[in-house]
Amino acid sequence: MKKRIKLAPSLLEADYRFLDKQLKMMETVGADSVHIDVMDGTFVPNLSMGMKMIQSIRQSTKLEFDVHMMVQEPHRFIKKMAEAGSDVITVHFEACKDLTGTLNSIKKEGKKVGLAIKPETSLDVLTENLLMPIDVVQLMTVEPGLEGQSFIPDSINKISEIQKKLHEIDKSADIEVDGNITMDNIKQVVQAGATIIVAGKAIFSGDMVENIRKMRSLLDTL
Ligand code: DX5
Ligand code: ZN
Repeated sequence: MKKRIKLAPSLLEADYRFLDKQLKMMETVGADSVHIDVMDGTFVPNLSMGMKMIQSIRQSTKLEFDVHMMVQEPHRFIKKMAEAGSDVITVHFEACKDLTGTLNSIKKEGKKVGLAIKPETSLDVLTENLLMPIDVVQLMTVEPGLEGQSFIPDSINKISEIQKKLHEIDKSADIEVDGNITMDNIKQVVQAGATIIVAGKAIFSGDMVENIRKMRSLLDTL
């Protein structure tokens, strides 16, 4: 059976006045998970949401919470993120001194393990040993932490390369793309092998319901 491509609206672009309503609505119209960007002002030059907010909005929806930690040494917060209601906890390759230990601590909390890589990080770092415990490989298709950037075209090749690496070691994991995914490039990223689509502006600019419906129908044809 064809695998369903997951659509994950990125809350960074949501209208926080109506978060509860928007979360309930996105669940009804075809979102699969909620992408939550956690920024620490050190790993990335910005601040965003944290545990308290995640815990609070956990009551608004049953959608999977896909927590993207743009945080230096995220191992300090894994337990709290898990307790707050995260389902997938993604840490950055570039942010961890003890990457294996950090990934293990996510697994120990019973959560799905995500590993994100920045655009300039070589895919050579994705060795068999590293990939084995991972549920989601998240490729940044813009530089994390900054708004208003363009999708990096070379990402398409990188998605295929990640898919190839997973295939070579017979490992099944999702490939998530994050950063300026729109109706114009969504088809290309899925055809290259992406299985989780994060979208911020493309969903929250204008009519959220209409935007999710359009993306969902396009994804269902791919
Ligand atoms: C970038 C964030 C993304 C971002 C996606 O630092 O990790 O999740 O919110 O939003 P768009 O799709 O608008 O680039
Ligand atoms: Zn993100």
